Amino acid sequence: MHFEHIISTKQFQDRKILEEIFQIAEEMERKGNVLQQSLRGKILASLFYEPSTRTRFSFEAAMQRLGGNVIATEAASQFSSVTKGETLEDTIKTINSYADVIVLRHPTEGSSQRAADVSSVPIINAGDGPGEHPTQALLDLYTIWKEKGGINNLSIAFVGDLLYGRTVHSLLNVLPVYDNVKFSFVSPPPLRLPDKYKEQLTEKGISFQELTDLQEVLPEADVLYVTRIQKERFPNEEEYEKVKDSYIIDPGVLEKMKPHATIMHPLPRVNEISPAVDTDKRAAYFRQVKNGLYVRMALLELLLKDR
Ligand code: NCD
Repeated sequence: MHFEHIISTKQFQDRKILEEIFQIAEEMERKGNVLQQSLRGKILASLFYEPSTRTRFSFEAAMQRLGGNVIATEAASQFSSVTKGETLEDTIKTINSYADVIVLRHPTEGSSQRAADVSSVPIINAGDGPGEHPTQALLDLYTIWKEKGGINNLSIAFVGDLLYGRTVHSLLNVLPVYDNVKFSFVSPPPLRLPDKYKEQLTEKGISFQELTDLQEVLPEADVLYVTRIQKERFPNEEEYEKVKDSYIIDPGVLEKMKPHATIMHPLPRVNEISPAVDTDKRAAYFRQVKNGLYVRMALLELLLKDR
């Protein structure tokens, strides 16, 4: 497997490659917390123009666990030279002199591709506005693979902000490589999945259902993929107020779900999942967090070890 950059899950249209990533991630998990040396001497730069807890910390922890080092700016939009008017392109070309890989999160869709176009080191898209978040989708797939023992023949219901939720977009660009996945999209009408993702499924001959009522999918969903309403992407607060708290997973909802269903969420959650759900064995979102570390270790090793 060889990738120059990780920009979109459209790059991962081969089950063998995905399986290879999952297997390396499992191996990383088995090795536990021992300090590995495969990326010794390599430097990762994390360049985040938007807030992050899991993505940034897990990439930084992953790099350090593999023996590499990290340089970071706390909040690139505030503390990097963009405040002086520097372009993203110039910032990337500059960091090329200091780092072997750049993890970039930026509010503009397409920004990671722009960065990759000028970068001499790999760019990893850690979220480009409402566009994509490919490494999250890979860790989500790894979580499904582990929790369900495979990805074929599952009924997966996506719930919440399907318009702006980039983790959903990245998942939808890769899930069709598996067989017989049944897609349900549950959202308030203003937050429906953009047409381009629906057209992609239709072109592949894959059917899906779009609903507003969560109750309808509960008895059949094998995976409930819940998302946060992406407040920061709304044109104004009023529009957000209309749709916030549209769906709340609580013990009453749990009762209507399959006993072996899996509840996922990329996190952060706001009110979408009640903390009372956390102790249910179906709640996989904190296991999903941990899987993120191992998948990112696998991806960093694959990207960097022969460079
Ligand atoms: C997601 C993101 O940033 O897109 N968070 C994450 O990386 N786990 C989801 C979100 O912010 O709602």
